Amino acid sequence: MHIRGQVIFGVFAAVSHVLGYEVKTPPLDTEWTYKVGTNPWPEYPRPLLQRPQWQNLNGIWKYRRAAAAEASMAPMNESFANAADVLVPSCLESGLSGVQDINVTHAWLTRDFTVPRDWARTGRRLMLNFEAVDYEATVFVNGRKAGFHRGGYWHFNFDVTDFVKTNGTNKLHVFVFDPTDSMGYNMPMGKQRTNPSHIFYRSCTGIWQTVWMESVPQNYIQKLDISADMDGKVKMQVATSGGNDTLSISVVGEEGVSIKSHEASTNGLIEFVVDSPKLWSPDSPNLYNLSIKLGDDEVTSYTGFRTVSSGEVNGIKRPLINGKFFFHFGTLDQGYWPDGLHTPPSREAMVYDLEVLKSLGLNMVRKHIKVEPALFYQACDQMGLLVIQDMPAMVDGDRKPDAAQQAEFERQYEIMIEQHKSYPSIYTWVVYNEGWGQITQGYYPEFDLTARTKEMDPTRLVDSTSGWNDHGAGDFHDNHHYANPQCGSPFYSILSTPHDPKRIAIQGEFGGIGHNVSAENLWKVEQAINQINQTYEIDTDLEAYNYRGHLLLTELKEQIERYACSGAVWTQTTDVEGEVNGFLTYDRRILRLKVDQWKADIQALYDAAQGRTGQYKGQKGLHGLGDICLFIYYEHDVYDQF
Ligand SMILES: *[C@@H]1O[C@H](CO)[C@@H](O)[C@H](O)[C@H]1NC(C)=O
Ligand SMILES: *[C@@H]1O[C@H](CO)[C@@H](O)[C@H](O)[C@H]1NC(C)=O
Ligand SMILES: *[C@@H]1O[C@H](CO)[C@@H](O)[C@H](O)[C@H]1NC(C)=O
Ligand SMILES: *[C@@H]1O[C@H](CO)[C@@H](O)[C@H](O)[C@H]1NC(C)=O
Ligand SMILES: *[C@@H]1O[C@H](CO)[C@@H](O)[C@H](O)[C@H]1NC(C)=O
Ligand SMILES: *[C@@H]1O[C@H](CO)[C@@H](O)[C@H](O)[C@H]1NC(C)=O
Ligand SMILES: *[C@@H]1O[C@H](CO)[C@@H](O)[C@H](O)[C@H]1NC(C)=O
Repeated sequence: MHIRGQVIFGVFAAVSHVLGYEVKTPPLDTEWTYKVGTNPWPEYPRPLLQRPQWQNLNGIWKYRRAAAAEASMAPMNESFANAADVLVPSCLESGLSGVQDINVTHAWLTRDFTVPRDWARTGRRLMLNFEAVDYEATVFVNGRKAGFHRGGYWHFNFDVTDFVKTNGTNKLHVFVFDPTDSMGYNMPMGKQRTNPSHIFYRSCTGIWQTVWMESVPQNYIQKLDISADMDGKVKMQVATSGGNDTLSISVVGEEGVSIKSHEASTNGLIEFVVDSPKLWSPDSPNLYNLSIKLGDDEVTSYTGFRTVSSGEVNGIKRPLINGKFFFHFGTLDQGYWPDGLHTPPSREAMVYDLEVLKSLGLNMVRKHIKVEPALFYQACDQMGLLVIQDMPAMVDGDRKPDAAQQAEFERQYEIMIEQHKSYPSIYTWVVYNEGWGQITQGYYPEFDLTARTKEMDPTRLVDSTSGWNDHGAGDFHDNHHYANPQCGSPFYSILSTPHDPKRIAIQGEFGGIGHNVSAENLWKVEQAINQINQTYEIDTDLEAYNYRGHLLLTELKEQIERYACSGAVWTQTTDVEGEVNGFLTYDRRILRLKVDQWKADIQALYDAAQGRTGQYKGQKGLHGLGDICLFIYYEHDVYDQF
């Protein structure tokens, strides 16, 4: 079932400026660009903590650039009547925003809203939620400051009960500040650059994920941390706004029947056991719904029973899921869009990428120095795609963080773990990518960060340094090498280190073979096109591209057979700007792969891994797409058809 972002005139008819919004033609569009409309991302945005009383505040807002000094006071006297219409959520630099404003550092975004009448009951609180604003947000409701938040990838909210009218129109102003990589700044921002080039891309500024409000009782559940293991043990931590209180927890099985009820105090660790649950794995992504009641607050959530660990199998250190070695194979998944940049045009578009990967037999994605909307992780949980989650990097190269910048990076790293540690699909955290922002003089911060990660989240593995400056921290020895792999092998190259048998060997990046396409499928920005020739390897036709793909996967297979290779990440899911090395082009209109060949080569990796252990059977029941072009499935729910 899809709720498409359609132009629902009724909803916004009263707002006269709606007709001022139009997609600003981006350098490249997708099949979804002109289907987004003015009601984007209508889905409930927080699948792990759902409440019925919510209202979406996405849609057409007003926007103008601002000066730094304006942050202290909302411009209540300004009508914004002549200001630009902007789509929320979107990056201000994107075509979908309707403004496509490049290099904006300070901005005002504003809209009016009313509070549903039945939320006005005494004792209830009104929470204003932002799923992500890049990079800083100062939020005002009716001219009063509701709060401030720093960090471009994280959920935050404010209790605005005392600032709103429940019997009339309220004014919401958001002041945004985003310096990206300007001199003097060094902060978690992934691949955003003010001056994009080669592997760095157009930046994202502003409200790029859903804004919404919800009604909660006085004592309500603020945060739920859930993990569930292969022995049926559930562990929960529940943060509430009130004091000690009693929770009623129910685990719901198939057909909505409760299979386990448990009462507990909100204080401390909650533990109980569900008998013989169906386990979660990439092959069988079984999930269980949960309902949690605290007084007047009743929320729903879900979990998957699985155990991630590392252990020796036939003398080689391996990643284990539910006690068994699984070879993980996936793509470097950057999550950039030519029309929305950081914001996928819709959930359907976002899930399309994952469906293509799953259909090829991949069992993992490495979410590369970006963090996605919660619905992305929910989709991975539902589809059975493991996620290696990278921390968004600080700047690369010689500009190392100072002490304050390092402290801020570490603060946000902890937020990433706190906000994502309940998704079953995430099985590995990455602290540093290829030395970017990694201090290597005086001390190695990845040791302390790895230890802290294990304390905060003992249920996952840590890839402390994915590529380059490895000092022995974490669960993995992770080599990056283009184009061919060097996975757990007795050979390695510059910037890498010899295979370390004490840790799990993976190839965190390889492949990256490129193939140029015609201008209609390229990001039409001169600098990007001029830099296509920096691609590590260009294959002049698809015949050559597929031949090279076969050779590289065959090399990987032989490394699994001969050496200690336990997983690999192919660069990459899609082209991004001037990088033309995706399975799919940046607009998702061309799939470069000979599907049957790649599926066979990928299955051969799992078979080779099974040959080392006699355990892993690979992905069963792969759903044949044959040699046809995947993009003809755009109009349908591809996943349902398999
Ligand atoms: C808004 O207008 C009122 C009345 O004209 C004035 O007193 C107030 O200072 C103005 N506020 C701002 C922020 O300009
Ligand atoms: C809303 O309620 C306030 C406080 O009771 C009152 O002063 C105001 O006139 C009301 N506004 C409307 C539009 O009814
Ligand atoms: C944005 O700013 C950068 C850095 O100052 C500059 O190199 C670039 O040309 C600017 N881009 C645009 C489109 O103004
Ligand atoms: C919280 O309440 C529960 C049951 O009501 C009680 O068993 C527990 O000791 C209390 N914990 C604290 C820290 O007060
Ligand atoms: C969980 O609840 C959702 C929403 O009610 C429902 O669509 C889904 O099928 C349920 N999942 C399971 C595994 O029971
Ligand atoms: C790639 O293709 C584009 C568009 O056809 C062309 O302008 C560009 O020169 C090509 N670059 C390379 C390196 O082949
Ligand atoms: C790549 O192409 C650009 C623009 O066409 C050219 O200036 C540059 O010299 C080329 N670089 C290489 C390494 O061929």
